[in-house]
Amino acid sequence: MKKRLKVVLALFLALILLTSCSSGAKDSASSGDASSDGKTYKFKLAHITPPSHMWHKAAEKFKEELSKRSDGRIELEIYPSSQLGSEADMMQQIESGSVDFGFITAAYTSSRSPSFAAWFAPYAFEDLEAAHEARESEPAKKILATLDEQGITGLDYLFAGQRVMLFKDKHVKKPEDMKGLKLRVTPSPPMQDFYKSTGASTEGLPLPEVYSAVQTGVIDGMDMDLDAAITNKYYEVAKYGAVTNHMVWPAVAMVNKSTFEGMSDEDQKIVRESLKAAADYAVETRAGQEEEFRKELADNGMKIYDIDPELFKPYIEEFDKKYGPTDPLIQEFIDSVRK
Ligand code: BEZ
Repeated sequence: MKKRLKVVLALFLALILLTSCSSGAKDSASSGDASSDGKTYKFKLAHITPPSHMWHKAAEKFKEELSKRSDGRIELEIYPSSQLGSEADMMQQIESGSVDFGFITAAYTSSRSPSFAAWFAPYAFEDLEAAHEARESEPAKKILATLDEQGITGLDYLFAGQRVMLFKDKHVKKPEDMKGLKLRVTPSPPMQDFYKSTGASTEGLPLPEVYSAVQTGVIDGMDMDLDAAITNKYYEVAKYGAVTNHMVWPAVAMVNKSTFEGMSDEDQKIVRESLKAAADYAVETRAGQEEEFRKELADNGMKIYDIDPELFKPYIEEFDKKYGPTDPLIQEFIDSVRK
């Protein structure tokens, strides 16, 4: 009898112990407490732009938000200015997990995952804010998901200024004036094809080589954004600046897939919300700088002017006709932005 009582007591104690353990786990998971599972992280983020560029400022905002929202548990080290190599190197590092996060140009990303070419549909957006809104659309999210198969989670898009055209010494007033010009265009097929359709030829020079190439006449101009035109002082070597804003220039915010999936739901939410705060900050700040940047270039001697977007209509149609059929996601994206 005594023995049976001891067994019942032991079973009862074991039951109490078990139920107290499982309710503790449930409590912390469902509490919504920002401390989540309490893990700490020291992440690395790499990108190509200098500290003066909006993408670096967005990276700093991301870092600040991560720390604030996680009570200091999630730290971020930022490596700007291609410190960790080219974008090809960085994406490889993200894939292998030696670097956690990257802000990689959609131009380069499209060479790894062609659906990103959709973002280079010319004159697809009224302004920067419209592109920022489109990043939350279903087609934009599906395009991010194409990175999954490379061991990378595409998280979001960040925008800097849109693309403009700078010319060394020809006042280009219509697309046909570009015929025969040699222009530096980022080595991204959709961007280069747009220029080639006007009769220009393209050189895919890396950014650090552009200043001397235009100065020495190796190229007659370039596709650029106003931000980089100022930081790299292209007004010293190019007389004309057509503020066409013909394409947006997104960076793709990405993270190593296993690293991200290894985080608790609560921490994944912190990462996503911190990125959104950084993307909002970048677009709000940059949109307010357009006039200031135009004036700064004009004050430095560049002739700043506009070209009527209507003049590019045949080239826009050519782009859509060529790229839409290459990929159902590109077609879906184009259809959604050209409503
Ligand atoms: C470019 O290659 O044109 C570029 C890259 C990063 C930021 C701005 C411009």
